[in-house]
Amino acid sequence: MLARIVVLPGDGVGPEVTSAAQAVLTAVASAFGHQFTFDTHLIGGAAIRRDLPPLPPDTLTACQSADAILLGAVGSPEFDSRPPGQRPESALLQIRQRLGLFANLRPARVWPGLENAGPLKPQVLGRTDMLVVRELTGGLYYGEPRGISEGQTAWNTMRYSRPEIERIARVAFTAARARQRRVTSVDKMNVLETSRLWRSIVTEVAAEYPDVRLDHMLVDSCAMRITLAPASFDVIVTENMFGDILSDEAGAVVGSLGLLPSASLGDGPGLFEPVHGSAPDIAGKDVANPIGAVLSGAMLLRHALKLEEEAAAVESAVASVTADGELTRDLGGAASCSALTRTIVSRVKR
Ligand code: NAD
Ligand code: IPM
Ligand code: MN
Repeated sequence: MLARIVVLPGDGVGPEVTSAAQAVLTAVASAFGHQFTFDTHLIGGAAIRRDLPPLPPDTLTACQSADAILLGAVGSPEFDSRPPGQRPESALLQIRQRLGLFANLRPARVWPGLENAGPLKPQVLGRTDMLVVRELTGGLYYGEPRGISEGQTAWNTMRYSRPEIERIARVAFTAARARQRRVTSVDKMNVLETSRLWRSIVTEVAAEYPDVRLDHMLVDSCAMRITLAPASFDVIVTENMFGDILSDEAGAVVGSLGLLPSASLGDGPGLFEPVHGSAPDIAGKDVANPIGAVLSGAMLLRHALKLEEEAAAVESAVASVTADGELTRDLGGAASCSALTRTIVSRVKR
């Protein structure tokens, strides 16, 4: 297969982890006889530093005509005084909106050898294997009106419409069919109108999937249960901001945020990126965990290129290194990002 992949390294550890993912995808291409081309573009702070907007027009155009997009991270403390619309992070929000990437899949599972790596007792962690399905182009992130007046009052709008809720619910129920057939819909219906609508529409859509069990949970209680009984979750479906928060929590529970990949899907090309950010505290030191980005590469193979066997080969390579205990600092090891990447690459087998 011939595939054109646009790479957006971005800021902080972004370039380190995207180069790891690119190395692994290159190994997949040679093991399985594919041809992947990588076309690198500027985004975020890296673009701003060259006097370009956070999402340069060329970058957006390249993304629109790609087969898939691989992103590192955006954001840097040097731009922290800027308002939301002029920050590196705004590039990511724009790209999600412009490409219609409404469905964000964030799997979190216990990898072999990492049963003791996180803060939970192994008997609590059990065989945790959850998928957070996060709505990505609605809610507080995009609702109008929004604003700030004279440093005194500020406002944002949480808005959801029926079609937005129906389509993300269908993504969650469909994903559950390939898993343990359980969906937990997470909302705040005791306080928010958007959550009341969310709950009633998710319940309606559930009727189309009689083989999948649905339950509902309030977000505060869900946050607690993710630490108390993470293995009790299968698919979690939730709105944009709740999904942002709960997925970082899920990362910590399985050992490190650095392990979590994501796929952002819509009608056009998908975008694949680790759940973590630019991690300025460890950037440039070759200590970042590349696994979240590498597994994002596996999701790219599976969802964008429909190469299931190849995706599974990447996941097996990752499982074999975690099982052997070759780990980066976030997981208590001493392996560098580049050394761990070399080991993963060497274990990608057809
Ligand atoms: P962060 O995810 O960058 O880091 C949180 C903590 O996790 C830090 O201690 C960091 O060192 C650690 N961490 C993150 N990724 C890691 C990895 N691969 N290996 C080892 N440790 C890792 O969150 P933050 O510090 O709150 O945000 C930093 C910047 O990143 C901000 O500008 C934020 O807006 C941005 N951000 C971007 C994205 C994205 O591009 N998708 C996501 C989240 C945050
Ligand atoms: C994420 C990030 C982004 C989000 C930021 C950087 C805009 O935290 O992808 O999880 O909140 O969606
Ligand atoms: Mn986040």
